[in-house]
Amino acid sequence: MAGRTRKTPTMPEPKKLFIKTYGCQMNVYDSERMAEAMGAEGYVATDRADDADMVLLNTCHIREKASEKLFSDLGRLRPLKAANPDLKIGVAGCVAQAEGEEILRRMPLVDIVVGPQSYHRLPAMARAADRGEKLVDTDFPAEDKFDHLPDRPAATTRPAAFLTVQEGCDKFCAFCVVPYTRGSEVSRPANRILAEAQKLVEKGVREITLLGQNVNAYHGPDGWGLARLVRALAEIDGLARIRYTTSHPNDMEDDLIAAHGDLPQLMPYLHLPVQSGSDRILKAMNRRHSADQYLRLIERIRAARPDILMSGDFIVGFPGETDADFAATMDLVRTVGYGMAYSFKYSARPGTPAAERAPVEAAVADARLQELQALLTTQQRAAQEAMVGRELSVLYEKPGRMAGQMTGKSDYLHAVHVKDGAGKAGDIVRVRVVKSETNSLGGERV
Ligand code: SAH
Ligand code: SF4
Ligand code: F3S
Repeated sequence: MAGRTRKTPTMPEPKKLFIKTYGCQMNVYDSERMAEAMGAEGYVATDRADDADMVLLNTCHIREKASEKLFSDLGRLRPLKAANPDLKIGVAGCVAQAEGEEILRRMPLVDIVVGPQSYHRLPAMARAADRGEKLVDTDFPAEDKFDHLPDRPAATTRPAAFLTVQEGCDKFCAFCVVPYTRGSEVSRPANRILAEAQKLVEKGVREITLLGQNVNAYHGPDGWGLARLVRALAEIDGLARIRYTTSHPNDMEDDLIAAHGDLPQLMPYLHLPVQSGSDRILKAMNRRHSADQYLRLIERIRAARPDILMSGDFIVGFPGETDADFAATMDLVRTVGYGMAYSFKYSARPGTPAAERAPVEAAVADARLQELQALLTTQQRAAQEAMVGRELSVLYEKPGRMAGQMTGKSDYLHAVHVKDGAGKAGDIVRVRVVKSETNSLGGERV
C-alpha cells in the first residue's frame, strides 16, 4: 500500500467552512476562534462561499447599514442553497444576538443563529443542523466559552494577532447597542491571557493587540488591571509589540499612561474615542466626561509619550446636536490633531435611549459628516507627511502587491510598503519613509 494516495470510501473529503466577518476586531478574533472550533470537528477553511459546506456570517449590529448588510448577503446565498440543499448557513455575532429567532423567520434559509457568548456550542449545533434541525442560541451562559474552545492556535497565518481580554460593556452610551449585544463587562483571568499570548508567540506572533469593547476597563478576576497585564505581557520573550483597543477615556488609569512612557513594547498609537466635542452632547450621550477632561487626559498621555499618535471615533448628527455643538467637535479635533480617526453619521438603534429622541435632519448630518471627514483627512495626511524622511520600525505582515515588496505596519500603525526582496513575514526592520500615499507610506529598508 506504500505510496498509494487513492482515497478510500471511509475517508470522506473534509467539510469546508466559509466565514465572512463584519464589524470590529473582536468579531475578527471570534471568527478565528469559531474556525478553530470547527477545525476540531474536521472542517477546513475555504475562501469561497460557493465551495463551502457551511457558510457562517459573523455580523455587526452597530449601525443600521451594518445590520442590513446581513440580509442582503443572505439573499445572495439563496441560489447556493438551492443548488446544494445540504449547505448549512449560520449567522453569528451581534445581529444574531439582537435578532435571534427573527432571523429564521425573515430568512428561512438560515440553519443556525448563535450569539457572541455561546459560540463554543457551534460544533454541536452544526451536528444538529446536519440532522435537519434549525437552532437558535443567544444565551449568556454561566460557563466561560473560552474554557470550552480548543487551545489556540492550531496555526497562525500572520505575525500580528488579536487577543480578546475583556468583553461586553457597562457604559450604556445612549446611542450604542454593544451593552445589549455583548452583555455586561467580563474580564478573562490574566493567567489564561498570558498563556494564550505565550502560545501565539511560540507560533511566530510578534505583535499582539489586546481587545475589549472597553479594554482599559479590564479588571481580571485575579485583581489585575490592564496596565499590570500589559507589563506582564512585555515580559514574554519574543513578543516585540503590544497594542490595545478600544479604550474609554474614563478608564485611562495612571499606571496605563505611565506604561506608554516606560514600556518600549507598548506601541505609540492609541485609539481613544470621544464621540463629540460638545459637553451638552457628551452629557446626552451619557459619556460621563467633558470635552475639557478629554483634552487634559490627552495632555497627560502625550507627556508620557510625546510622539504618540492619537486616533478616535466621532458621531455627528446625534439627536439634539446644534451647529454650535458641531462646531465644538470641530474645535476639539483641531486641538487634538488626530493621526487617524473614524467618523460616523448617527444611526438610531432599536432599544437604545437615543432612538426615542427627535433626529437631526439627514441633510444637516450629511453635511456635518463631510465637513468633519475633510478635516480628519487633512490631519491624517499631515501626520503621514510628517513621517517622510524619518526612520521607523516596520513589522512585515505579508508580501506586497508588487514583486520584491513587503507590506507591514509601523509602530504608529501606518501601513508601510517596503521594497525588500529578501524580507519575510514576521521580520521587524528599520525603514526610511520616502513617500506618503492615500492610506499608506512607502519606504526603503535601512
Ligand atoms: N467600545 C468602543 C467602540 C464601540 S463601536 C468604544 O466605546 O469606543 C465603535 C464606534 O461606532 C463608536 O465609538 C461610535 O463612534 C460608533 N457608533 C456606535 N454606535 C453608533 C450609532 N448608533 N450610530 C453611529 N455610530 C455609532
Ligand atoms: Fe458602546 Fe459606549 Fe460601551 Fe463603547 S463605551 S461599547 S460606545 S456603550
Ligand atoms: Fe459590531 Fe458587535 Fe463589534 S455590534 S462593532 S461586531 S461588538
